[in-house]
Amino acid sequence: MENLEMNNSLKDFYNGKKVFITGHTGFKGSWLAYWLSEMGATVTGYALEPDPKGSLFEALNLREDIYHTIGDIRNKETLQASLQAAQPDMVFHLAAQALVRHSYDDPINTFSTNVMGSLNVLEAIRNQPAVRSLVYITSDKCYWNNEWVWGYRETDALGGPDPYSASKACAEHVFKSYYLSYFKQRENFGCGSTRAGNVIGGGDRSKDRIVPDIITAAEKNTPVVLRNPNSTRPWQHVLDPLHGYMVLGKSLYENPDHHNGEGWNFGPSNQSIKTVYELTKKLTRLWDNIIIEAPMMRHQPHESGLLHLSIDKAQTLLGWEPKLHFDEAVKKTGEWYKRIQNGENAKKVTQQQIKEFMNA
Ligand SMILES: NC(=O)c1ccc[n+]([C@@H]2O[C@H](COP(=O)([O-])OP(=O)(O)OC[C@H]3O[C@@H](n4cnc5c(N)ncnc54)[C@H](O)[C@@H]3O)[C@@H](O)[C@H]2O)c1
Repeated sequence: MENLEMNNSLKDFYNGKKVFITGHTGFKGSWLAYWLSEMGATVTGYALEPDPKGSLFEALNLREDIYHTIGDIRNKETLQASLQAAQPDMVFHLAAQALVRHSYDDPINTFSTNVMGSLNVLEAIRNQPAVRSLVYITSDKCYWNNEWVWGYRETDALGGPDPYSASKACAEHVFKSYYLSYFKQRENFGCGSTRAGNVIGGGDRSKDRIVPDIITAAEKNTPVVLRNPNSTRPWQHVLDPLHGYMVLGKSLYENPDHHNGEGWNFGPSNQSIKTVYELTKKLTRLWDNIIIEAPMMRHQPHESGLLHLSIDKAQTLLGWEPKLHFDEAVKKTGEWYKRIQNGENAKKVTQQQIKEFMNA
């Protein structure tokens, strides 16, 4: 009952709000844009073209639900013009080069997008007084990873050995600097940076992520090859961190002095911290005959082995809780792909999963 009330109040809050999302053509951005528009928000998205190979954005036909702008966050002028035209109440900044492995191949694009692009987003908001709150998405990888068993807290050291992690740590520094230099003094404005774990869910088609790799193997009848089977990750269903972002956005809008300018972890509960192999075993059970291969791979680019987040702060100060534990998150993810493979409409399946989550 309590949850239902909280979710209804979230719906009441977002109904009629003007929300600007960067990265709305990506995996998390498409879920968020659709969810917010379902709650009655007027959504404007700003991002690069959706992936032509079966993006969630296209599957949901989001063009019919939101204002949709194709643009690069590294282009300060077009970004400012788009924000100016939208006059949003709130901004969710998700646009990024989001893949660790790709960051090794293209560090310049990774740093320029994740650091300078994010700087442009902050600068555009600085010049747009209509904006009342900002939820700024970085990553669990922004923490300097000591490969220890404890969850990282929001005050832990930032940094990363690979270009992606380092770029997200830099994006955090840029955020803090803007908060201290400009936003702290701004009337009626609240902002927070958010760090979530490894997100799974329907509609992800990114390269070098385990769930899309499994779905491709199922479709093509080829083995799933695991690069780092023993690495543990804080797996979570996409709806959980997005719910956290929305709860935080509401809190910052309604009460900007409540922990303004701070970082927030939205990770899963401890029981969802599993290895890549455990996730693969569980998800592949939904299909017949998927072979899992985990060859000894030498000369792999470094990826963190042991990583998880402490979520005490969001639980205590925002009343946010992860709702879908590991088994449910995997089940919901597999179900989404299976139902689409069986010819169901992606929008209907997505809408149903959001509804189930809201009423959970
Ligand atoms: N998926 C995860 O497991 C995960 C985990 C932690 C943090 N994150 C963060 O969450 C955010 C969203 O991740 P995702 O999984 O949806 O990524 P994604 O790759 O699916 O989507 C990225 C989005 O950013 C946009 N984008 C990329 N470069 C851009 C540019 N130069 N200008 C404008 N738009 C640009 C893309 O067009 C796309 O809309 C990212 O900031 C990512 O780093 C993701």
